[in-house]
Amino acid sequence: MEFAPALIEQLRHASRVVFFTGAGVSAESGLPTFRDAQTGLWANYKPQDLATPEAFARDPQTVWRWYQWRRRVHADVTPNPAHHAIAAFEARLPEAVLVTQNVDRLHELAGSPAPIHLHGSVFRNKCASCGIEMPEVPHDLETPPACPDCGGLCRPDVVWFGEGLPPAPWQAAVDAAVKAEVVISIGTSATVHPAARIPLVAREAGALVVQVNPEPTPQDKIALNLRGKAGAVLPALLAAVWGE
Ligand code: OAD
Repeated sequence: MEFAPALIEQLRHASRVVFFTGAGVSAESGLPTFRDAQTGLWANYKPQDLATPEAFARDPQTVWRWYQWRRRVHADVTPNPAHHAIAAFEARLPEAVLVTQNVDRLHELAGSPAPIHLHGSVFRNKCASCGIEMPEVPHDLETPPACPDCGGLCRPDVVWFGEGLPPAPWQAAVDAAVKAEVVISIGTSATVHPAARIPLVAREAGALVVQVNPEPTPQDKIALNLRGKAGAVLPALLAAVWGE
């Protein structure tokens, strides 16, 4: 794969690089993206209809069972070359920051030291009523346990449609974007706000935005676009910059 020599030069000399990832970075590990049709048991449901506080209030068992199924799927997948390449970039760049919208743990499994999770993690739980952190439970438990403090129902600690982002990760991501020299946005449709503002904030502050995606996105016009799958483009970029 060929890259513009100016891009390789800029990456070789940049230290404040932000990696911003979405579901596409995990697609080659076998996790469907949000805009892919669901398969199997859940083919008749749309994530947009399950991942909401209203859906959980109306039918907690169905929403809980969907997350328990997703946890079983997530527990079986492993990082792909894109996750490994990002971790290798981070190892070279002490000031790099990884911001992810993903609720999987594939970045951690690939060795990324501290990904900022804007949308939480399917592997964490909290009480739907009082918000207290609750422990992980076996992934085949079919009904949500009750909170020991208030009796509310256990739910995954992820951000649902219509909910705000956790303030500390969001602030850390904005701070990194404002200071970034380069943002590499990977595998995101760049449509879900406020997360999708991260590359925009960085661009407004003068950063170069590089986008890795086989498909166009609304942010094509502010980015240098590398069309292709993350699992092919990122290892090639790593090799071009560092010879790894
Ligand atoms: P989307 O499902 O919206 O978009 C996935 C993007 O990945 C698309 O632009 C695809 O073209 C691209 N893609 C697919 N395969 C790829 C590959 N192999 N390499 C690179 N790119 C690939 O996922 P997100 O942008 O992450 O929010 O969605 C953002 C948020 O919307 C999610 O975090 C989730 C969802 O609602 C919450 O859960 C709150």
